[in-house]
Parts: sequence; structure tokens; C-alpha cells
Amino acid sequence: MGFYARHVLPRAMDWTMRRRGRLRSEILARAHGEVLEIGFGTGLNLPHYPSTVRKLVGVDPMDPRLAFMERRISRAPFPVERFGLRAERGLPFEDGRFDCIAMTWTLCSIAEPGPALVEMRRVLRPGGFLLFIEHGRSDDPAVARWQRRVNGLHRLLALDCRLDRPIDALIRKGGFEIAELDRFVFKREPRVYAETYRGIARA
Ligand SMILES: C[S@@+](CC[C@H](N)C(=O)[O-])C[C@H]1O[C@@H](n2cnc3c(N)ncnc32)[C@H](O)[C@@H]1O
Repeated sequence: MGFYARHVLPRAMDWTMRRRGRLRSEILARAHGEVLEIGFGTGLNLPHYPSTVRKLVGVDPMDPRLAFMERRISRAPFPVERFGLRAERGLPFEDGRFDCIAMTWTLCSIAEPGPALVEMRRVLRPGGFLLFIEHGRSDDPAVARWQRRVNGLHRLLALDCRLDRPIDALIRKGGFEIAELDRFVFKREPRVYAETYRGIARA
């Protein structure tokens, strides 16, 4: 991994993803027990987990090991274990191990979301929850057209992030039942990026 991927990219990602604390706290309030976080990134979710979390396992192919991240991890009130791998390539955990899975602004970047969701479903215990906040395809055809137009450029600039994924449909196709879904436009972002899906899906 080069200097850019190890040092520049994680810092840039951390900076752009910081302004979302309230949304993180709201969805992660439901996390409990042993939690798997897909797309752990720079650990921005850590301060937003409630005291009902016993352990956190983070999966992310980037898996940077930077001093500011290590400090964030050391302040977490539960143990944190990290795996540098792609979710769709197979998760090295037994069936039904996790009480809960958290995924924030990550499904857009996973190269093969279908197999990744099937893996998540496998390692979640029966009745367990997938908590998600993602951006994705707009229900407004004019915005969806713009998302398609700028997708290629956006993928080049933003870690292969797709603007137009139908998040709820993908989650259902992965074998989950969506128990709650909140759709809104996140005010502080450009509309093509701001189409938000926040919800809870059950295994
Ligand atoms: C926009 S960042 C979000 C990071 C973090 N979840 C947050 O909310 O700040 C997307 C993350 O997804 C990770 N990612 C990309 N492809 C992945 C994959 N196949 N499996 C797991 N994580 C992946 C990226 O490395 C990156 O850390």
C-alpha cells in the first residue's frame, strides 16, 4: 500500500465524514452485545456506540493504523478488533456470531454489495439487526439522472463510491427484512450525494 493510500486517503476521509455525529448516535443507539462494523474506516463511529456494546469487530480493506485512530480506539469503553479485508470475499467468523452489524456510508463503496450482504446475513445471529445509514439512489427521477451522469467522475475522486445504489433493495436481496427505513435528504451535502437511507434490517 502506497503513502497516499496509507496516510492521505484516511485523513481526507476522516475530515469529510466528521460532520455526521448526530446521525451516527441516533442509529447506533440500538447497537448491543458483540457488534460487527463493516467499513470501519477511521473509527468515527466509536464514540457513538452505547454502553450496551460489549465488543466491536471492525472490517475494512483500507485498515489504516494511524496514531489518531489508535487513540480513538484506546478510548473506547469496549475491546476493538480489526480485520483488513473486503466483506464480499468472505468474513472469517462463524455463522450467527454477532448480535448486531453496523454499516455507515459504506455500501456505496463495496465492489460487490450482493455477496457482502449475504456474508453479513450469515454471521448475524437469527433475529439480530443490521443498523445502516447510507447514501444512494434518489426517488426523484431528475436527481437520479444527475447521479448517473456524475457517477463515473465521483467514483474516480471518492474511493470508487457509487451515487446511485438502491440501498433498501440491495439489503432485501441480501436476505434481510427491513424493519425500519427513514428516507431523507441530508441538508449539508450536494443533492446527488445527500439522498440518505437510514434504517434497521432484521436477519
Ligand atoms: C466513506 S467511508 C465510511 C467510513 C465509516 N464507515 C464512516 O462512517 O466514517 C467507506 C469505507 O468503506 C470501506 N470499504 C470499501 N470497500 C469495502 C469492502 N469491500 N468491505 C468493507 N469495507 C469496505 C472503505 O475502505 C472506507 O473505509
